[in-house]
Amino acid sequence: MTAAGHDRIGIFGAGYVGIVTAAGIAELGHTAILYDTDAAKIALLAAGGLPIHEAGLPELVARGVSSGRLQFTSDPGRAVAGCSAVFIAVGTPIADDGSADLTNVRDAAATIAKHLDGPAIIVNKSTVPVDTGDLVAGIVRDARLTRRAPVVSNPEFLREGSAVNDFFHPDRIVIGCDDAGAEAFLRVLYAPLGAPVIVTDMRTAEMIKYTANAFLAMKVSFANEIAAICAGVGADVTAVLAGAGADARIGPAHFGAGLGFGGSCLPKDLRALQQIAAAVSVQPALLEATLAVNRRQIERICARIGALTDGLPGRRIGVLGLAFKAGTDDVRDSPAIALIEALLAGGAQVAVHDPAAMENARSLLGARVTYALPDDAFDVAGDADALVLATDWPGYADPDLARLRAAMRRPLLLDARNFYDPQRVARAGIRYEGIGRSA
Ligand SMILES: NC(=O)c1ccc[n+]([C@@H]2O[C@H](COP(=O)([O-])OP(=O)(O)OC[C@H]3O[C@@H](n4cnc5c(N)ncnc54)[C@H](O)[C@@H]3O)[C@@H](O)[C@H]2O)c1
Repeated sequence: MTAAGHDRIGIFGAGYVGIVTAAGIAELGHTAILYDTDAAKIALLAAGGLPIHEAGLPELVARGVSSGRLQFTSDPGRAVAGCSAVFIAVGTPIADDGSADLTNVRDAAATIAKHLDGPAIIVNKSTVPVDTGDLVAGIVRDARLTRRAPVVSNPEFLREGSAVNDFFHPDRIVIGCDDAGAEAFLRVLYAPLGAPVIVTDMRTAEMIKYTANAFLAMKVSFANEIAAICAGVGADVTAVLAGAGADARIGPAHFGAGLGFGGSCLPKDLRALQQIAAAVSVQPALLEATLAVNRRQIERICARIGALTDGLPGRRIGVLGLAFKAGTDDVRDSPAIALIEALLAGGAQVAVHDPAAMENARSLLGARVTYALPDDAFDVAGDADALVLATDWPGYADPDLARLRAAMRRPLLLDARNFYDPQRVARAGIRYEGIGRSA
């Protein structure tokens, strides 16, 4: 175990975290073997494709593949044999009761234990409840290995949309373990990134991840609650949050009003933390309020669109953006999709566009909406009673407002990300409605 520039490292799970981690580790000079139980995903990767959209990832993966240091396999034995470390980056979706479903983690741990052929560190990157490190260690122990296989919690903080940059420039590296050799290995592995390293026990590391996501979600719900008050009193929430966020104790990052938080992590991790709290008899009032405000935000915006268009039934609404945030094709728990579902339930007809997520959205929305051509986003405004900006993709930043005005049945722009300049929109003869601000 050296991490001195040429270790062999297995990665289980070819999702957002697994692909970026594997490609990043290869770029650092190691051999990364990426394994997934989904053979189609591995075949796609092996054929030069990518199952996800991330800026900079195609180039990073191509460099890794051409160097021979990034490899893909459907054979778990190949992803474990001869490795100094094996990373677990499998999905941990929501179970029926709201807790994290650990089936994939258990399966991955058992498969790794079965194929280990020498001393190796098992590094868990999946977001998992406190105790999961012990669970993985127990599975490895039950396999009665003669080889040493310490388990480490190394939570992942990358953000979809800037995942490659986040891999190489993390705010911090968290290493949760009680094994000096494993800690030293990960310190050397991540040393080129120059990030502060926080070393804790495994449970604390697992809690750090949930705490970070819960706080980020709370900041968004707080901003949306303030936005509702701003709308009532006639203040501009963007200036209010900038003014409050200028306080170093608060900070401006991730502090904007809009459609609310979504994606594959924040909603699920908040619910999992609720379950963790309940298990130790804590009633997490702030977590409950954070989720409730987030749910209400969609209802509030849908009701506002209904009020502005004199009732939703039969109205034509154009929606720009389907991904849960710009820079990704991920539509899991996307607030844009939730808003579209609410508009459809209210009887509206919806036309949609997204530069990256249209295919993924199709599996959720099917033929219930109409899809604009990929390179003609503003087509969704044709004959529309309202145009809604749901995901703030840079490509939507500079619309031809005169063309929009002419194309729409009712010139109304609901800017659900406070993305546009309200005065500019209003000057073009289009009614502007933001979240907690107006023209
Ligand atoms: N997506 C993010 O932005 C992000 C950020 C930080 C942390 N996380 C956490 O990282 C974990 C992975 O997230 P993701 O978004 O990359 O997941 P994902 O759903 O995109 O991909 C998970 C992959 O794991 C594979 N898999 C399932 N069981 C497996 C097994 N036994 N062996 C090998 N592969 C298996 C699946 O086929 C899938 O391809 C989750 O716990 C998530 O909460 C995600």
